[in-house]
Amino acid sequence: MSITLRLLTIFISILLANVVSSGEVKHELKSLVSNSTMAVGDPEVMASKVHMSIRNSTERRKLGYLSCGTGNPIDDCWRCDQNWQRHRKRLAECAIGFGHSAVGGRDGKYYIVTNPNDDDAVNPQPGTLRHAVIQDEPLWIVFKRDMVITLKQELIMNSFKTIDARGVNVHIANGACITIQYVTNIIIHGLHIHDCKPTGNAMVRSSPSHYGWRTMADGDAISIFGGSHIWIDHNSLSNCTDGLIDAVIGSTAITISNNLFTHHNEVMLLGHSDSYTRDKVMQVTVAYNHFGEGLVQRMPRCRHGYFHVVNNDYTHWEMYAIGGSANPTINSQGNRYLAPDDPNAKQVTKRVISPGNSDDWNWRSEGDLMLNGAYFTPSGAEAGDKYAKALSLSAKPSSVVATLTSDAGVLTCIRGRPC
Ligand SMILES: *[C@@H]1O[C@H](CO)[C@@H](O)[C@H](O)[C@H]1NC(C)=O
Ligand SMILES: *[C@@H]1O[C@H](CO)[C@@H](O)[C@H](O)[C@H]1NC(C)=O
Ligand SMILES: *[C@@H]1O[C@H](CO)[C@@H](O)[C@H](O)[C@H]1NC(C)=O
Repeated sequence: MSITLRLLTIFISILLANVVSSGEVKHELKSLVSNSTMAVGDPEVMASKVHMSIRNSTERRKLGYLSCGTGNPIDDCWRCDQNWQRHRKRLAECAIGFGHSAVGGRDGKYYIVTNPNDDDAVNPQPGTLRHAVIQDEPLWIVFKRDMVITLKQELIMNSFKTIDARGVNVHIANGACITIQYVTNIIIHGLHIHDCKPTGNAMVRSSPSHYGWRTMADGDAISIFGGSHIWIDHNSLSNCTDGLIDAVIGSTAITISNNLFTHHNEVMLLGHSDSYTRDKVMQVTVAYNHFGEGLVQRMPRCRHGYFHVVNNDYTHWEMYAIGGSANPTINSQGNRYLAPDDPNAKQVTKRVISPGNSDDWNWRSEGDLMLNGAYFTPSGAEAGDKYAKALSLSAKPSSVVATLTSDAGVLTCIRGRPC
């Protein structure tokens, strides 16, 4: 290929790598300049070509042609397939981390939600999301069209369900939200979940054969209570009354990946209480998420168990990013932490000390990128078995976090094209 074309290719690849380290960029620019002098001779022509290629690649990106092979191991598993909508269940093979074996509704039929209403939480109508999630058999739940679902009561899920909103724009908003209680094998992908409110003091159905009285729920976007094998991927969550994702009461084998969190105070609680020691079994992976605008604290706040926080992009917090009490093991690897300007909120970590807890908890930071004065206070053992239990996938360098998380949140997937 011609030298000009090669230069353009290099420029596009720089662009797609979303700027690696500044050293690398400087190096590329230097060779581009010397080669361009040699090959083109006219910097203006060169500049306009470069601009055009940037414009073209941005356009193509918007169309979804170039979103494959970004290095995000979950996305690269399925997004390049232009027939993703005919192979929806392949998504179930793409989970990594502690929730990797969550199969959701892979072995069941498709269920198409056609009706956004939630008129009767005890006898839900066929075609509604509630009717889909309470069924006993595995189901892969998809949506006929865009919809806003305002739930009157908590959506109590039964085991072996996937909620897959790819290709449509589905909001669960302004009412109750999702409860995953004493069930297993749940995949939740592609939902906007926001403005969740406390509901309850009502009868709610949880399976075809059971309904019961629900006391008041806190108003979490996703509440996991004694649940396991759960994968929450590519959702956009914001502005709820309580947590965005809470996992308590012995919940484990969970991966929370590729989500976009915004506008919320207490983002994520992992572990019920300091005295609830059954949460020592918890293993949760928090990977490739973007913790964005308007967040305050608990990204996550951990107790007792093992938490792998890996390759996330933290661009906003008001108080702290990662907190805990009751001796959690926290393995922070390859994240990007951008501290707020407030000089009192530079610390990534926050220890909530209660009587009987010393400061020897195992918290480590490995390969994290600290920006704007951010600092992580490590403690406890530097190596050993503890971290083996808090290690769930291999971290990439923090220099690629921007690329890995650039599509965090709900994706816009179009039929017949790579997503
Ligand atoms: C620029 O040209 C030099 C010498 O021909 C070559 O070694 C170098 O790899 C080129 N740089 C790039 C970025 O292609
Ligand atoms: C950009 O796209 C235009 C129109 O499709 C095409 O003519 C041009 O050759 C492209 N340029 C580059 C550098 O890709
Ligand atoms: C969040 O919800 C509250 C009401 O619950 C509302 O007043 C506020 O505007 C919402 N914030 C955003 C950023 O949407």
